[in-house]
Amino acid sequence: MSTGPASGASSDGAARFGVVVVSDRASRGEYEDRGGPAVQSYLEQAFSSALDFEYRLVSDDRAAVADTLRELADERGCCLVVTTGGTGPSKRDVTVDATLDVVDKVLPGFGEAMRAVSRTKVPTAVLSRQAAGIRGGALIINLPGSPKAIDECLDAVILAVPDCVDLLGGPRLELSDREAYRPHD
Ligand code: MTE
Repeated sequence: MSTGPASGASSDGAARFGVVVVSDRASRGEYEDRGGPAVQSYLEQAFSSALDFEYRLVSDDRAAVADTLRELADERGCCLVVTTGGTGPSKRDVTVDATLDVVDKVLPGFGEAMRAVSRTKVPTAVLSRQAAGIRGGALIINLPGSPKAIDECLDAVILAVPDCVDLLGGPRLELSDREAYRPHD
């Protein structure tokens, strides 16, 4: 079990989110990462709450990804950590494995919802192993690497995020375009 401080917010009260880009090529500088900016811009538009981002670019290395997730949840106190890339079946796709290494609880509904939506977009969506879970006060969600997939997948689950963060004792997140669904209020 993790022990993190997990206030989920920075000292100025902004909700702290982690964005983890998992890519051998982007981490070697062989191409410009487009996944991280796509995740950040989606989240900035989706939430009206003040946000503070921690951005990490790591290679497709299971231990390195797991260390990064632990750092963001336990030391940086992120209430939400979103990964992009490395969710497929290739040998170097280890993001999901690293996530399952570090979470206290798996939340299978996230992967189910994201794959269900993605299957209506591309037949290869069934290849995605993307998962989600909680570590201490952080909700961790895996997304595929393509910017298009990022928007589609976040659309499928974003409404469940504020309530989940509430249940973890994190900051109260508000959505930009509608009232957050809070069955536990
Ligand atoms: N989901 C959506 N919405 N759109 C996509 O283009 N690509 C699929 C799948 N899910 C895709 C998607 C493919 S081809 C793979 S291999 C897996 O996500 C994993 O992608 P990743 O290796 O970039 O994580």
